[in-house]
Amino acid sequence: MQHLEYSTEKKSQTSIHFSFDDSHVSEIIATKNTAIISSRNLVDAYPSIFKSKKLIIIDDTETHKNLATIEKIIAELLDLGIDRNSYIIGIGGGIVCDITGFVSHIYMRGVRFGLVPTTLLAMTDAAIGGKNGVNFNENKNFIGSFDNPDFIIADSKFLHTLPENQYMSGLGEIIKYALIGNTNILNTLKTNQKNILDRNSETIKKLVSESVLTKVKIVEEDPNDKTIRHILNFGHTIGHSIELLENIPHGLAVVKGMNAATDISVKLGILATDKAQQIKQLLTSFGYDISYCLGDKHNRLLCNDKKKEDFNIRFVLLEDIGKPIIRKMPIQQIVELTK
Ligand SMILES: NC(=O)c1ccc[n+]([C@@H]2O[C@H](COP(=O)([O-])OP(=O)(O)OC[C@H]3O[C@@H](n4cnc5c(N)ncnc54)[C@H](O)[C@@H]3O)[C@@H](O)[C@H]2O)c1
Repeated sequence: MQHLEYSTEKKSQTSIHFSFDDSHVSEIIATKNTAIISSRNLVDAYPSIFKSKKLIIIDDTETHKNLATIEKIIAELLDLGIDRNSYIIGIGGGIVCDITGFVSHIYMRGVRFGLVPTTLLAMTDAAIGGKNGVNFNENKNFIGSFDNPDFIIADSKFLHTLPENQYMSGLGEIIKYALIGNTNILNTLKTNQKNILDRNSETIKKLVSESVLTKVKIVEEDPNDKTIRHILNFGHTIGHSIELLENIPHGLAVVKGMNAATDISVKLGILATDKAQQIKQLLTSFGYDISYCLGDKHNRLLCNDKKKEDFNIRFVLLEDIGKPIIRKMPIQQIVELTK
Protein backbone atom coordinates (compact mmCIF):
# COMPACT_ATOMS: atom_id res chain seq x y z
CA MET A 1 0.00 0.00 0.00
CA GLN A 2 1.44 3.38 -0.99
CA HIS A 3 -1.08 5.79 0.26
CA LEU A 4 -3.90 5.90 2.81
CA GLU A 5 -6.10 8.77 3.89
CA TYR A 6 -8.54 8.97 6.69
CA SER A 7 -10.46 11.70 8.44
CA THR A 8 -11.30 11.85 12.11
CA GLU A 9 -12.86 15.27 12.25
CA LYS A 10 -15.15 15.14 15.27
CA LYS A 11 -18.43 16.88 14.64
CA SER A 12 -19.54 18.12 18.00
CA GLN A 13 -22.44 20.38 18.81
CA THR A 14 -22.78 22.57 21.85
CA SER A 15 -26.16 23.77 23.09
CA ILE A 16 -26.19 27.06 24.95
CA HIS A 17 -28.88 27.84 27.53
CA PHE A 18 -29.47 31.01 29.47
CA SER A 19 -31.26 29.62 32.53
CA PHE A 20 -29.84 27.13 34.99
CA ASP A 21 -33.22 26.23 36.52
CA ASP A 22 -34.78 25.30 33.18
CA SER A 23 -31.71 23.40 32.07
CA HIS A 24 -31.20 19.65 31.95
CA VAL A 25 -28.28 19.66 34.42
CA SER A 26 -30.21 17.99 37.23
CA GLU A 27 -31.35 15.30 34.79
CA ILE A 28 -27.76 14.60 33.74
CA ILE A 29 -26.65 14.47 37.35
CA ALA A 30 -29.51 12.16 38.25
CA THR A 31 -29.15 9.76 35.33
CA LYS A 32 -25.42 9.71 34.69
CA ASN A 33 -22.45 9.13 36.92
CA THR A 34 -21.57 12.81 37.07
CA ALA A 35 -18.73 14.66 38.77
CA ILE A 36 -18.87 18.40 39.36
CA ILE A 37 -15.72 20.50 39.40
CA SER A 38 -16.11 23.81 41.19
CA SER A 39 -14.54 26.10 43.78
CA ARG A 40 -15.11 27.03 47.42
CA ASN A 41 -16.62 30.42 46.51
CA LEU A 42 -19.35 28.81 44.42
CA VAL A 43 -20.11 26.04 46.89
CA ASP A 44 -20.47 28.60 49.70
CA ALA A 45 -22.64 30.95 47.62
CA TYR A 46 -24.92 28.28 46.07
CA PRO A 47 -24.89 25.29 48.48
CA SER A 48 -28.15 23.76 47.21
CA ILE A 49 -26.71 23.17 43.73
CA PHE A 50 -23.93 21.02 45.14
CA LYS A 51 -25.78 19.12 47.85
CA SER A 52 -25.16 15.34 47.76
CA LYS A 53 -23.20 15.55 44.51
CA LYS A 54 -19.89 14.00 43.51
CA LEU A 55 -17.92 17.16 43.97
CA ILE A 56 -14.31 18.13 43.33
CA ILE A 57 -13.36 21.49 44.79
CA ILE A 58 -10.32 23.18 43.28
CA ASP A 59 -8.39 26.30 44.17
CA ASP A 60 -9.47 28.52 41.25
CA THR A 61 -6.53 30.89 41.21
CA GLU A 62 -4.13 31.54 38.31
CA THR A 63 -1.23 30.03 40.29
CA HIS A 64 -3.18 26.79 40.70
CA LYS A 65 -4.28 26.69 37.08
CA ASN A 66 -1.56 24.18 36.34
CA LEU A 67 -0.73 20.54 35.68
CA ALA A 68 -0.49 19.74 39.39
CA THR A 69 -4.19 20.63 39.78
CA ILE A 70 -5.03 18.52 36.74
CA GLU A 71 -3.25 15.53 38.29
CA LYS A 72 -5.12 16.00 41.57
CA ILE A 73 -8.47 16.15 39.75
CA ILE A 74 -7.66 13.00 37.78
CA ALA A 75 -6.90 11.15 41.03
CA GLU A 76 -10.21 12.36 42.52
CA LEU A 77 -12.17 11.40 39.40
CA LEU A 78 -10.76 7.90 39.68
CA ASP A 79 -11.69 7.73 43.37
CA LEU A 80 -15.22 8.86 42.53
CA GLY A 81 -15.59 6.08 39.98
CA ILE A 82 -15.88 8.37 36.98
CA ASP A 83 -15.49 6.43 33.73
CA ARG A 84 -15.90 6.96 30.01
CA ASN A 85 -19.70 6.83 30.24
CA SER A 86 -19.75 9.48 32.94
CA TYR A 87 -20.21 13.21 32.70
CA ILE A 88 -18.11 16.04 34.09
CA ILE A 89 -19.66 19.45 34.76
CA GLY A 90 -17.62 22.54 35.56
CA ILE A 91 -19.42 25.22 37.59
CA GLY A 92 -17.39 28.38 38.05
CA GLY A 93 -15.37 31.10 36.39
CA GLY A 94 -13.00 30.87 33.45
CA ILE A 95 -10.40 28.98 35.47
CA VAL A 96 -12.86 26.23 36.43
CA CYS A 97 -14.17 26.11 32.84
CA ASP A 98 -10.68 25.95 31.25
CA ILE A 99 -9.59 23.23 33.69
CA THR A 100 -12.81 21.21 33.34
CA GLY A 101 -12.55 21.23 29.55
CA PHE A 102 -8.93 20.12 29.60
CA VAL A 103 -9.31 17.41 32.21
CA SER A 104 -12.44 16.06 30.46
CA HIS A 105 -10.50 15.93 27.20
CA ILE A 106 -7.64 13.86 28.60
CA TYR A 107 -9.25 11.75 31.36
CA MET A 108 -9.51 8.21 29.94
CA ARG A 109 -8.95 9.85 26.52
CA GLY A 110 -12.13 11.88 26.78
CA VAL A 111 -15.30 12.15 28.85
CA ARG A 112 -18.36 14.21 27.90
CA PHE A 113 -18.63 17.50 29.72
CA GLY A 114 -20.78 20.58 30.26
CA LEU A 115 -19.98 24.05 31.56
CA VAL A 116 -21.89 26.39 33.84
CA PRO A 117 -19.91 29.64 33.68
CA THR A 118 -20.62 31.82 36.71
CA THR A 119 -18.59 34.97 36.00
CA LEU A 120 -19.43 37.58 33.39
CA LEU A 121 -16.16 36.82 31.65
CA ALA A 122 -16.68 33.08 31.55
CA MET A 123 -20.28 33.44 30.29
CA THR A 124 -19.37 35.77 27.49
CA ASP A 125 -15.97 34.42 26.56
CA ALA A 126 -14.02 31.67 28.38
CA ALA A 127 -16.71 28.95 28.26
CA ILE A 128 -17.36 29.41 24.54
CA GLY A 129 -15.18 28.21 21.73
CA GLY A 130 -13.62 24.99 22.96
CA LYS A 131 -10.25 26.31 24.10
CA ASN A 132 -9.25 24.64 27.35
CA GLY A 133 -6.04 24.43 29.28
CA VAL A 134 -3.69 25.43 32.05
CA ASN A 135 -0.68 27.69 32.54
CA PHE A 136 2.86 26.40 32.40
CA ASN A 137 5.31 28.32 34.57
CA GLU A 138 4.93 31.94 33.43
CA ASN A 139 3.19 30.99 30.19
CA LYS A 140 -0.56 31.48 30.17
CA ASN A 141 -2.83 28.74 28.85
CA PHE A 142 0.22 27.06 27.36
CA ILE A 143 -0.91 23.46 27.69
CA GLY A 144 -4.39 22.49 26.63
CA SER A 145 -6.86 21.17 24.12
CA PHE A 146 -9.59 22.14 21.70
CA ASP A 147 -12.79 20.44 22.79
CA ASN A 148 -16.32 21.78 23.01
CA PRO A 149 -18.71 20.96 25.85
CA ASP A 150 -22.05 19.32 25.15
CA PHE A 151 -23.77 22.27 26.77
CA ILE A 152 -23.13 25.68 28.29
CA ILE A 153 -25.50 27.38 30.71
CA ALA A 154 -24.85 31.11 30.84
CA ASP A 155 -27.29 32.19 33.54
CA SER A 156 -26.81 35.81 34.63
CA LYS A 157 -28.42 35.09 38.01
CA PHE A 158 -24.99 33.93 39.18
CA LEU A 159 -23.62 37.43 38.65
CA HIS A 160 -25.25 38.95 41.73
CA THR A 161 -22.64 37.39 44.01
CA LEU A 162 -19.69 38.27 41.81
CA PRO A 163 -17.10 40.64 43.35
CA GLU A 164 -16.95 44.08 41.70
CA ASN A 165 -13.49 43.72 40.11
CA GLN A 166 -14.55 40.40 38.55
CA TYR A 167 -17.70 42.00 37.18
CA MET A 168 -15.66 44.82 35.67
CA SER A 169 -13.22 42.25 34.29
CA GLY A 170 -16.05 40.55 32.36
CA LEU A 171 -17.34 43.89 31.17
CA GLY A 172 -13.88 44.51 29.68
CA GLU A 173 -14.35 41.54 27.34
CA ILE A 174 -17.83 42.75 26.43
CA ILE A 175 -16.37 46.15 25.49
CA LYS A 176 -13.90 44.23 23.31
CA TYR A 177 -16.82 42.74 21.35
CA ALA A 178 -18.11 46.26 20.76
CA LEU A 179 -14.72 47.52 19.57
CA ILE A 180 -14.24 44.60 17.16
CA GLY A 181 -17.64 45.08 15.53
CA ASN A 182 -20.80 44.45 17.57
CA THR A 183 -22.72 47.71 17.19
CA ASN A 184 -25.63 46.55 19.38
CA ILE A 185 -23.22 46.17 22.29
CA LEU A 186 -21.55 49.49 21.47
CA ASN A 187 -24.91 51.29 21.54
CA THR A 188 -25.88 49.62 24.83
CA LEU A 189 -22.55 50.62 26.35
CA LYS A 190 -23.06 54.22 25.27
CA THR A 191 -26.69 54.56 26.32
CA ASN A 192 -27.09 52.27 29.31
CA GLN A 193 -24.03 52.91 31.40
CA LYS A 194 -25.82 53.29 34.73
CA ASN A 195 -27.86 50.12 34.23
CA ILE A 196 -24.72 48.22 33.32
CA LEU A 197 -22.81 49.41 36.37
CA ASP A 198 -25.86 48.69 38.58
CA ARG A 199 -26.03 45.13 37.15
CA ASN A 200 -29.56 45.62 35.90
CA SER A 201 -30.80 42.11 35.04
CA GLU A 202 -32.36 42.94 31.67
CA THR A 203 -29.37 44.95 30.49
CA ILE A 204 -26.92 42.25 31.56
CA LYS A 205 -28.98 39.52 29.88
CA LYS A 206 -28.91 41.52 26.65
CA LEU A 207 -25.14 42.04 26.84
CA VAL A 208 -24.52 38.38 27.69
CA SER A 209 -26.61 37.06 24.78
CA GLU A 210 -25.11 39.55 22.30
CA SER A 211 -21.59 38.64 23.42
CA VAL A 212 -22.30 34.91 23.20
CA LEU A 213 -23.68 35.40 19.68
CA THR A 214 -20.62 37.36 18.61
CA LYS A 215 -18.17 34.79 19.91
CA VAL A 216 -20.16 31.82 18.55
CA LYS A 217 -20.32 33.39 15.09
CA ILE A 218 -16.56 33.98 14.97
CA VAL A 219 -15.69 30.58 16.43
CA GLU A 220 -17.99 28.78 13.99
CA GLU A 221 -16.23 30.49 11.11
CA ASP A 222 -12.77 29.56 12.42
CA PRO A 223 -13.00 26.71 14.96
CA ASN A 224 -9.26 25.98 14.96
CA ASP A 225 -8.08 29.54 15.50
CA LYS A 226 -6.36 29.91 12.13
CA THR A 227 -7.88 33.09 10.63
CA ILE A 228 -10.73 35.40 11.69
CA ARG A 229 -10.73 34.15 15.29
CA HIS A 230 -7.54 36.12 15.87
CA ILE A 231 -9.61 39.30 16.10
CA LEU A 232 -10.85 38.02 19.47
CA ASN A 233 -7.31 38.63 20.67
CA PHE A 234 -7.74 42.37 20.44
CA GLY A 235 -6.05 43.70 23.59
CA HIS A 236 -4.91 40.22 24.63
CA THR A 237 -1.31 40.00 23.42
CA ILE A 238 -0.19 42.84 25.67
CA GLY A 239 -3.04 42.16 28.12
CA HIS A 240 -1.81 38.63 28.91
CA SER A 241 1.64 39.90 29.86
CA ILE A 242 0.12 42.61 32.07
CA GLU A 243 -2.25 40.07 33.67
CA LEU A 244 0.64 37.82 34.65
CA LEU A 245 3.04 40.49 35.80
CA GLU A 246 0.58 42.78 37.60
CA ASN A 247 -1.58 39.93 38.88
CA ILE A 248 -4.86 41.65 37.98
CA PRO A 249 -8.07 40.01 36.65
CA HIS A 250 -7.99 38.99 32.99
CA GLY A 251 -10.49 41.53 31.66
CA LEU A 252 -8.89 44.47 33.51
CA ALA A 253 -5.57 43.58 31.86
CA VAL A 254 -7.32 43.24 28.49
CA VAL A 255 -8.69 46.79 28.90
CA LYS A 256 -5.11 48.06 29.32
CA GLY A 257 -4.08 45.91 26.36
CA MET A 258 -6.88 47.38 24.22
CA ASN A 259 -5.74 50.88 25.12
CA ALA A 260 -2.16 49.97 24.16
CA ALA A 261 -3.31 48.40 20.86
CA THR A 262 -5.35 51.55 20.17
CA ASP A 263 -2.25 53.73 20.72
CA ILE A 264 -0.19 51.47 18.45
CA SER A 265 -2.90 51.68 15.76
CA VAL A 266 -2.63 55.50 15.87
CA LYS A 267 1.19 55.46 15.81
CA LEU A 268 1.11 53.24 12.73
CA GLY A 269 -1.25 55.72 11.04
CA ILE A 270 -4.05 53.16 10.82
CA LEU A 271 -6.53 54.71 13.28
CA ALA A 272 -7.58 58.37 13.44
CA THR A 273 -6.70 60.20 16.68
CA ASP A 274 -10.29 61.25 17.35
CA LYS A 275 -11.45 57.61 17.13
CA ALA A 276 -8.75 56.62 19.59
CA GLN A 277 -9.97 59.39 21.88
CA GLN A 278 -13.52 58.00 21.68
CA ILE A 279 -12.24 54.56 22.65
CA LYS A 280 -10.29 55.91 25.62
CA GLN A 281 -13.30 57.95 26.68
CA LEU A 282 -15.53 54.85 26.54
CA LEU A 283 -13.08 52.85 28.66
CA THR A 284 -12.49 55.56 31.27
CA SER A 285 -16.21 56.38 31.47
CA PHE A 286 -16.68 52.95 33.06
CA GLY A 287 -13.96 53.79 35.58
CA TYR A 288 -11.18 51.61 34.14
CA ASP A 289 -7.53 52.29 34.79
CA ILE A 290 -6.20 52.17 31.22
CA SER A 291 -2.57 52.99 32.01
CA TYR A 292 0.18 50.60 30.96
CA CYS A 293 3.96 50.54 31.04
CA LEU A 294 5.80 47.71 29.32
CA GLY A 295 9.32 46.64 30.25
CA ASP A 296 11.76 43.78 29.69
CA LYS A 297 9.61 41.26 31.54
CA HIS A 298 6.61 41.96 29.30
CA ASN A 299 8.93 41.66 26.33
CA ARG A 300 10.08 38.23 27.49
CA LEU A 301 6.48 37.07 27.94
CA LEU A 302 5.56 38.31 24.47
CA CYS A 303 8.48 36.25 23.11
CA ASN A 304 6.80 33.16 24.60
CA ASP A 305 3.35 34.04 23.20
CA LYS A 306 1.67 31.04 21.59
CA LYS A 307 0.78 33.18 18.57
CA LYS A 308 4.42 34.03 17.92
CA GLU A 309 5.98 32.99 14.61
CA ASP A 310 9.77 33.43 14.80
CA PHE A 311 10.06 36.97 16.16
CA ASN A 312 6.66 38.11 14.89
CA ILE A 313 3.20 38.11 16.40
CA ARG A 314 -0.15 38.43 14.66
CA PHE A 315 -1.26 41.57 16.40
CA VAL A 316 -4.80 42.97 16.31
CA LEU A 317 -5.10 46.67 15.46
CA LEU A 318 -8.11 48.87 14.77
CA GLU A 319 -8.76 50.78 11.54
CA ASP A 320 -11.88 52.24 13.09
CA ILE A 321 -14.20 51.50 15.99
CA GLY A 322 -15.64 48.10 15.04
CA LYS A 323 -13.04 47.44 12.33
CA PRO A 324 -10.19 45.22 13.52
CA ILE A 325 -7.29 44.15 11.30
CA ILE A 326 -4.61 41.55 11.93
CA ARG A 327 -1.01 42.47 11.18
CA LYS A 328 2.12 40.38 11.59
CA MET A 329 4.46 42.56 13.64
CA PRO A 330 7.92 42.08 15.16
CA ILE A 331 7.66 41.73 18.95
CA GLN A 332 10.34 44.37 19.40
CA GLN A 333 8.31 46.86 17.34
CA ILE A 334 5.19 46.24 19.44
CA VAL A 335 7.09 46.96 22.64
CA GLU A 336 8.81 50.04 21.15
CA LEU A 337 5.46 51.46 20.00
CA THR A 338 4.09 51.34 23.54
CA LYS A 339 6.75 53.76 24.74
N1 LIG B 1 -10.74 29.46 27.15
C1 LIG B 1 -10.90 30.67 26.72
O1 LIG B 1 -11.25 30.90 25.58
C2 LIG B 1 -10.69 31.82 27.68
C3 LIG B 1 -11.07 33.12 27.33
C4 LIG B 1 -10.90 34.13 28.26
C5 LIG B 1 -10.35 33.87 29.49
N2 LIG B 1 -9.98 32.60 29.80
C6 LIG B 1 -9.41 32.29 31.11
O2 LIG B 1 -10.38 32.56 32.12
C7 LIG B 1 -9.73 32.85 33.34
C8 LIG B 1 -10.37 34.02 34.02
O3 LIG B 1 -11.69 33.65 34.29
P1 LIG B 1 -12.71 34.57 35.12
O4 LIG B 1 -12.50 35.98 34.80
O5 LIG B 1 -14.03 33.98 34.92
O6 LIG B 1 -12.20 34.46 36.61
P2 LIG B 1 -11.87 33.27 37.61
O7 LIG B 1 -12.23 31.96 37.08
O8 LIG B 1 -10.46 33.54 38.00
O9 LIG B 1 -12.82 33.61 38.84
C9 LIG B 1 -12.64 34.81 39.55
C10 LIG B 1 -13.10 34.69 40.99
O10 LIG B 1 -14.51 34.79 41.05
C11 LIG B 1 -15.03 33.72 41.85
N3 LIG B 1 -16.38 33.46 41.35
C12 LIG B 1 -16.73 32.87 40.18
N4 LIG B 1 -18.05 32.94 40.02
C13 LIG B 1 -18.56 33.57 41.10
C14 LIG B 1 -19.87 33.95 41.49
N5 LIG B 1 -20.94 33.74 40.71
N6 LIG B 1 -20.02 34.57 42.69
C15 LIG B 1 -18.93 34.83 43.48
N7 LIG B 1 -17.67 34.52 43.16
C16 LIG B 1 -17.49 33.89 41.96
C17 LIG B 1 -14.04 32.60 41.67
O11 LIG B 1 -14.11 31.68 42.73
C18 LIG B 1 -12.72 33.38 41.65
O12 LIG B 1 -12.30 33.67 42.96
C19 LIG B 1 -8.26 33.09 33.00
O13 LIG B 1 -7.51 32.00 33.45
C20 LIG B 1 -8.25 33.17 31.48
O14 LIG B 1 -7.06 32.69 30.92
C21 LIG B 1 -10.14 31.57 28.92
